[in-house]
Amino acid sequence: MHSAANVTANAVMICSVLSACAELSALNLGKEIHGYMIRTFLSNELLVSNSLVDMYMKCGNLKEGHLVFERTEGKDVISWNSIIKGFGMHGLGIKALQMFDRMITSGHQPDGITFVAILSACSHAGLVDQGRLLFNNMVSKYGIEPGMEHYACTVDLLGRSGFLEEASEVVKKMPMEPNDCVLGALLNSCKMHTNTTFAENVVSRMSSLVSESPWSCTLMMNIYAGSGKWEDSAKERASARSKGLKKAAGQSWIEVKKKFHKFVAGDCLEEKNSGEIFRVLGGLTNQMEDISDDYVIFLKLMMLD
Ligand SMILES: *[C@@H]1O[C@H](CO)[C@@H](O)[C@H](O)[C@H]1NC(C)=O
Repeated sequence: MHSAANVTANAVMICSVLSACAELSALNLGKEIHGYMIRTFLSNELLVSNSLVDMYMKCGNLKEGHLVFERTEGKDVISWNSIIKGFGMHGLGIKALQMFDRMITSGHQPDGITFVAILSACSHAGLVDQGRLLFNNMVSKYGIEPGMEHYACTVDLLGRSGFLEEASEVVKKMPMEPNDCVLGALLNSCKMHTNTTFAENVVSRMSSLVSESPWSCTLMMNIYAGSGKWEDSAKERASARSKGLKKAAGQSWIEVKKKFHKFVAGDCLEEKNSGEIFRVLGGLTNQMEDISDDYVIFLKLMMLD
């Protein structure tokens, strides 16, 4: 557009391109856009600065994202949400909390999105006390009714840290029916703490909700597999198949020499150099064995598929 028609991009266009860069983790392209913004004096616009912060944070360049944030004049709630979410998604819960406090002391009113960001930040960093307090204060202190996403984050927060009973109490008190994400968070916590009994409890209490959810079936399958109950795992898989349930496959990708290589769980890697890939993966698995058992189970399941 720019070179063919000599049309100058406006703020809205730049935001769309930055958002695409953020979703694809295309940091180098994002930096080019940043350069273009400076040359065309678009970097002073709040809308564009917010997108830039979001792009840098999602691409993992926290330093640059933070710098752009601090330089942004007249920060609004979207600016604060972007920086809190950014730190949170990379496990920097304390930094996210510090930003939240600064947001409040500088007189900004948080919204529902702020709370999704800060609750999931606490969850990823294992900051149970802080997250629990924030959730309890949502209505009383900030006048925000928790929605489905807030419940999912809180259940995840409590469950991850092993407060399975408390997490399931939160689910029971929900004014609406829990969705896939909430149930998934609860079952995933059972999986992390290899508490098969509690998972079966949850499933029997909410059987109708669980059986409709492909994700929950898959989780149950993995819970059984994780605790070595391979027969029960196979049953769950068969039952998921018979219901015609299909789970959307998660994908990941890497960029090597400007070419994208896409990976799907259970990928047969036909046209890829699979021997080499599995050799490296095997080596990594050995190294990780010392670090985290959970991750090894995940990798082994992936290779089994
Ligand atoms: C499973 O979780 C429940 C509730 O927190 C707890 O009472 C029980 O002891 C746990 N079981 C195992 C095997 O950890």
